[in-house]
Amino acid sequence: MTKRISLTQYLVEQQREHGHIPGQLRLLIEVVARACKRIAIAVNKGALGEVLGSAGSENVQGEVQKKLDIISNEVLIEANEWGGHLAAMASEEMDDIHVVPNRYPQGEYMLLFDPLDGSSNIDVNVSIGTIFSVLRKVGHNRGVSEEDFLQPGKFQAAAGYCVYGPQTTLVLTVGDGVAMFTLDRETGSWVLTSENVQIPADTKEFAINMSNMRHWDTPVKRYIDECLEGKDGTRGKDFNMRWIASMVADVHRILTRGGVFLYPWDKREPAKPGKLRLMYEANPMAFLVEQAGGLATNGHQRIMDLQPTKLHERVSVILGSKNEVQRVTSYHLEKGAETPSQD
Ligand code: AHG
Ligand code: MN
Ligand code: MN
Repeated sequence: MTKRISLTQYLVEQQREHGHIPGQLRLLIEVVARACKRIAIAVNKGALGEVLGSAGSENVQGEVQKKLDIISNEVLIEANEWGGHLAAMASEEMDDIHVVPNRYPQGEYMLLFDPLDGSSNIDVNVSIGTIFSVLRKVGHNRGVSEEDFLQPGKFQAAAGYCVYGPQTTLVLTVGDGVAMFTLDRETGSWVLTSENVQIPADTKEFAINMSNMRHWDTPVKRYIDECLEGKDGTRGKDFNMRWIASMVADVHRILTRGGVFLYPWDKREPAKPGKLRLMYEANPMAFLVEQAGGLATNGHQRIMDLQPTKLHERVSVILGSKNEVQRVTSYHLEKGAETPSQD
């Protein structure tokens, strides 16, 4: 029988042998993984658990909240606030940061999450996920403010996501490559199923919402047009397209077999830098993708170099196979792109 390595064993060994994971960070990751298990159970129950449909409220970005958005947010908060590993949390579903209450010890990390990514897919039984990013609290004062969170993604201590699909898979980086763990529902444990994940540098697959084509900026239009030309065009090969509308599921495919994902700035609302959120969607995915040998830019700069100015800031995202991301980015850097470099 092949030896099974659990998430706990993986983290303990990373801590002991490579010194990547301090004790508090190990606890944090285990708690997030446990919360994801609870979210997976709620997701699986679906209509039987009365968790489908909308909650009748809106989040800070004016999006209608689904019941599972709120349930997942609560699960993550409750699981994480008492362990002593966190100073504060921030979420897509909360206007302001959630500081660990005074009755609990305060830790040195800060956790950001998109509790349920791909909300439009919940009710139609298509893959969804949870995305998380971990930052260190700089400074030793007890208070925490939104400013403490506004760190470029390159300072993330860890990042990951859990995809609730045909399998429930947790994907993690602590800055030493990317590892994947599959949930064994019989034993309830996360089992290491891939290590040192690598995204192929080249691909024949792109992911973009084509219905926005008329709003795209010139570099994005040029890139996709060239892909669509196929074998007889500039690229000399046929491309395939996938768009799941759950970033988690699209990124999971890219980490598994390569590809490029674009949710670019477009002319619908020119003042909006993009749709996706920098701090709890783009940064953690950029960290994972770079750790797997890929790239992530906003067309002009590396996503993880961007200095956030507010918690719920949006960003243009191009990530995945290195050579494709380099190509789209180089098209942006040529004259003619209207895309703002950063809001
Ligand atoms: P969320 O459900 O957390 O709001 O995120 C949805 C995001 C992302 O997961 C996906 O790639 C994108 O929105 C889909 O947007 P469109 O519906 O515009 O294609
Ligand atoms: Mn999302
Ligand atoms: Mn969400």
